[in-house]
Amino acid sequence: MSQCATQGDSQPRIAVDDRTHVLALTGAGVSAESGIATFRGAKGLWEGHRIEEVASPEGFAADPQLVWRFYSARREKAALAQPNPGHRALAALEERLGDRFLLASQNVDDLHGRAGSTRLVELHGNLFRTRCSECDREPFRDEKSYAAGPLPQCDLCLKQGRRALFRPHIVWFGEMLDPEDLRRVDEFLARPAERLIFLAAGTSGVVWPAAGLVDLARRRGAQTWLVNAEPAENSSRFHHFILGKSGEVLPGLLGVE
Ligand code: OAD
Repeated sequence: MSQCATQGDSQPRIAVDDRTHVLALTGAGVSAESGIATFRGAKGLWEGHRIEEVASPEGFAADPQLVWRFYSARREKAALAQPNPGHRALAALEERLGDRFLLASQNVDDLHGRAGSTRLVELHGNLFRTRCSECDREPFRDEKSYAAGPLPQCDLCLKQGRRALFRPHIVWFGEMLDPEDLRRVDEFLARPAERLIFLAAGTSGVVWPAAGLVDLARRRGAQTWLVNAEPAENSSRFHHFILGKSGEVLPGLLGVE
């Protein structure tokens, strides 16, 4: 790690020109300033819940009502939240770079999309999408709450005489990421680029495969940057680490204030 600036130091800026390609990776910290709880640490989302009860296929099989109550509450919270300057800075960078930009996010709260990001890979799914727990129909947009009342059932399965519950389109523990999502990230990194930047923000660097993207990017010659409110598990893998809040740091760092 060649640099660790703290808030208040004169802020570095990533030079972005028409040869620059940027792969950004975000985690829960990017939405913290929008009022969405991160996962780990005090008041973290997992605090008070046993992860396997609310975020695993086994948990869903055992108590789908509990799982839908948990995700309905998260839908409600995320729907009321607003994108913050960190989300908007990444959307502005995309507007500038076009297909030389890709955002891979571990967040499911939809705030990047609402900020205007379109070149977006949602590695862990999206809170506002639902899919069938049995058949492979396309996930669909769904903003409803299933906190109370009957659980939603797949009408296509029902037509074939099977009963199957709908479930949140979220990657749960013990499940694989969509290979198509990983292919998009890999393909982006494999494209010839004169200047490749990898920028991670708001992520603790403990969940794979996202935590390993920094090494993949370095192998492809990227300059790597991390913006995080505290040191991450993989901070030492980055060339540059800026200690600070993404909503405060990203607009200046990306020159899109
Ligand atoms: P974590 O909750 O593990 O980490 C959030 C990180 O953001 C921490 O390192 C915080 O210090 C940092 N942070 C907090 N506020 C910040 C701010 N305003 N600006 C910048 N950084 C800030 O969240 P993730 O790394 O996203 O997976 O967690 C990865 C995955 O683990 C999640 O997607 C989720 C979870 O289990 C699934 O649900 C599949």
